[in-house]
Amino acid sequence: MAKNTKKKGSASGAKQSTMGAPMLLLVLLCLAGLVLGVWLISTNSTGTSGNSHEIAMQVGQSRTLETTLTAPFTCSVSNDKIIRIDENHLMTALSPGTAVIVAESTSGSRETFYITVSGDPNVTLPPPGDTTTTTTSTTTFSSDATTTTTTATLAPGSVTGIELTFYAISLKVGEHKMPIVTMSPANATDKTEKWTTSDESVATVDWLGNITAVGAGICTIRVTSVNNPAVYAEVAVTVAGDTAQTPGNIELINGVTYVDGILIANKTYALPKDYAPGVNTEAKAAFDRMQLAAASAMLDINIVSGYRSYATQEATYNRFVNRDGQAAADTYSARPGHSEHQTGLAFDINYAGASFANTPEAEWLAKNCWKYGFIIRYPEGKEHITGYQYEPWHVRYLGADTAEKVYNSGLTLEEYLGITSKYAD
Ligand code: DAL
Ligand code: ZN
Repeated sequence: MAKNTKKKGSASGAKQSTMGAPMLLLVLLCLAGLVLGVWLISTNSTGTSGNSHEIAMQVGQSRTLETTLTAPFTCSVSNDKIIRIDENHLMTALSPGTAVIVAESTSGSRETFYITVSGDPNVTLPPPGDTTTTTTSTTTFSSDATTTTTTATLAPGSVTGIELTFYAISLKVGEHKMPIVTMSPANATDKTEKWTTSDESVATVDWLGNITAVGAGICTIRVTSVNNPAVYAEVAVTVAGDTAQTPGNIELINGVTYVDGILIANKTYALPKDYAPGVNTEAKAAFDRMQLAAASAMLDINIVSGYRSYATQEATYNRFVNRDGQAAADTYSARPGHSEHQTGLAFDINYAGASFANTPEAEWLAKNCWKYGFIIRYPEGKEHITGYQYEPWHVRYLGADTAEKVYNSGLTLEEYLGITSKYAD
């Protein structure tokens, strides 16, 4: 065995002996190559200036690459889906990940930059200058903050997401609340918001996102990116309570109802048949000032119906009942004793019909009448509260202080005073 082994070994040893020189040469060459390789790699990664750098960026962020290179240089990037760099050396982070940028000067010097981009993995921005890249936008909505993902074709700098500080609120009538909006990415070029409500009789919202509760119920307030209408977020609004549960102080003086000192005539509260004050002189003087102000805005406003006696209202209402039936008449004409026109404090302006809406005079009146002590008494969307159709022509005098408060509240007079407007039968 040993002999055989030795023999075999000898044979094997002889072969090893004959291959020893080339092998040694190979090993030496490998070593030399390794040294050369290390030197080359070292030269390639750090350049002759010997510099390498780490840079952290967020998706959407841009910054100029700063180097110590003294000669003009060009840049190459290992992954241009993560980071782009333009001819002015402006870097833009496009998606999360790592990439390497090598800057090489005309004199042969190099610097290496290791870039780490962090951000939402669902958000990828299109490369600068690319207006057709498909990217992903995220939409957050509703009280349970459900997240949906939609795909859209976006231009650079587009809005891809909206976040709110809350997605559900409960309010009482008259209360306000405004969520804070954050649109992403941070460098989106147009962050204009568009606010809408699903039900104006429950909650309204202004252009800033200020939500006002106006009537019991639930609705949704939505903010949409004007830049990218596919992106929106919603607040579920619950308005609690019956506005009639917290009425103001109600007094009956000589059969006339006053709530917190304000004379009321509506479907719930009637005037005595013999209440016949004629036109209120203070209200008429306020109208005259308002008419002059409108005239200076090149608009002509006139009273087409002012004070109406009980008897006049009775005749008017009966005419409408005969024409359209009582149910229909009750939506636009007060029963005798229930009309504000009998108070002498209400005026119909220019034309008591639907075509008055959207005229310049109607728009001016809605915007300015509070300054002269009037309110639009039966606003659009509040029919179930006032009991009457939208009447942009019908103004009610309250005095400047009260009119300003009611106007700023965004409420009807019924809501403002916490009263109803409903016939008993
Ligand atoms: N048109 C209003 C409601 C009235 O008749 O008094
Ligand atoms: Zn009227």
